[in-house]
Amino acid sequence: MPSTPRTAERAGAEAPPLLEVSNLETNFSTPDGEVPAVGGVSFTLGRDETLGVVGESGSGKSQIFMSIMGLLSTNGRARGSVKFDGEEILNLPRAGLNRIRGDRMSMIFQDPMTSLNPYLTVGRQLTEVLVTHKGMNESEAREAAVAMLDRVQIPEAGRRIDMYPHEYSGGMRQRAMIAMALLCRPELLIADEPTTALDVTIQAQILELIGEIRAQGSTAIILITHDLGVVAGLCDRVMVMYAGRIVESGSVADIFYRPQHPYTEGLLHSMPRLDEKDAKRLATIPGQPPNLQRLPPGCAFEPRCQHRIEVCKTTIPPLRDSGAGRRKACHLERS
Ligand SMILES: Nc1ncnc2c1ncn2[C@@H]1O[C@H](COP(=O)(O)OP(=O)(O)O)[C@@H](O)[C@H]1O
Ligand code: SF4
Ligand SMILES: [Mg+2]
Repeated sequence: MPSTPRTAERAGAEAPPLLEVSNLETNFSTPDGEVPAVGGVSFTLGRDETLGVVGESGSGKSQIFMSIMGLLSTNGRARGSVKFDGEEILNLPRAGLNRIRGDRMSMIFQDPMTSLNPYLTVGRQLTEVLVTHKGMNESEAREAAVAMLDRVQIPEAGRRIDMYPHEYSGGMRQRAMIAMALLCRPELLIADEPTTALDVTIQAQILELIGEIRAQGSTAIILITHDLGVVAGLCDRVMVMYAGRIVESGSVADIFYRPQHPYTEGLLHSMPRLDEKDAKRLATIPGQPPNLQRLPPGCAFEPRCQHRIEVCKTTIPPLRDSGAGRRKACHLERS
């Protein structure tokens, strides 16, 4: 199948950002009414950037990227604009998305069985992708698939390629899914909580693997996690989500050492710290996560915010520039 020439190969043209998301809104229809899961999100991602997306469970992290990938459940609707390498892809028909998905952008999930088919050997699933997207013949595809399994450190890849997913350990299944996502050398890899279900040792190995992919360049990475600790060593920039909106974004150093938004401060204070002996000092953010169907008229964080002022009750704070490469959505003037 012919694919669009990659931007680097286009002569003389100014390259657009790899991903440009503008005013993305995602709503779900439910018997109890509309659920506004993503409430107007805008950001761009550069070609060799690694972006962390953090926020509590339910803050809309996954649904942003399910909308982008065209993977929303049938009761979901996305509006706004998503440009991939300059081309509008939001709500593209399936054929258009299939041309890009798996080839130029791919996604990995917490549960590897979201992407792996239990009834086919790992090898069959990997080679099929290469035959379909890259036009390889069976033996070329098998060679490339073994090489990729080797790269994600599946031991004895040449033998294990003929096994079924259930014959792999949990950590190996996660690696096989990453291998599948990387096979076509995508320009964008979206990793949605890829280590949440794994034990600590395997978590560290998978994060190391993502670090290696980052170091090799040529793949932009979006790492979605509820765990700020995970983004610290891996990401260039961080986007903090609350109630379906971005509340703050900036470099890893800015977010960790100079947070500007009260919610980001709360998240940082609730992070477990290995250097503190007294784990009991760990603070959680008081109050309940927001109910998306009954958001307050002003700032969604207002009921839990210790810095709230009068205007917070009535007016949603817009996301504004707040310093070099930083943005925040908060009425407070402090920086
Ligand atoms: N199919 C669905 N129908 C109704 N609501 C949904 C559906 N999928 C997700 N949601 C809601 O959208 C919100 C955001 O979900 P999600 O993006 O998955 O959060 P997270 O930040 O944990 O990844 C949640 O409140 C969730 O309940
Ligand atoms: S806008 Fe107001 S309520 Fe919201 S985070 Fe800022 S100070 Fe707190
Ligand atoms: Mg999620």
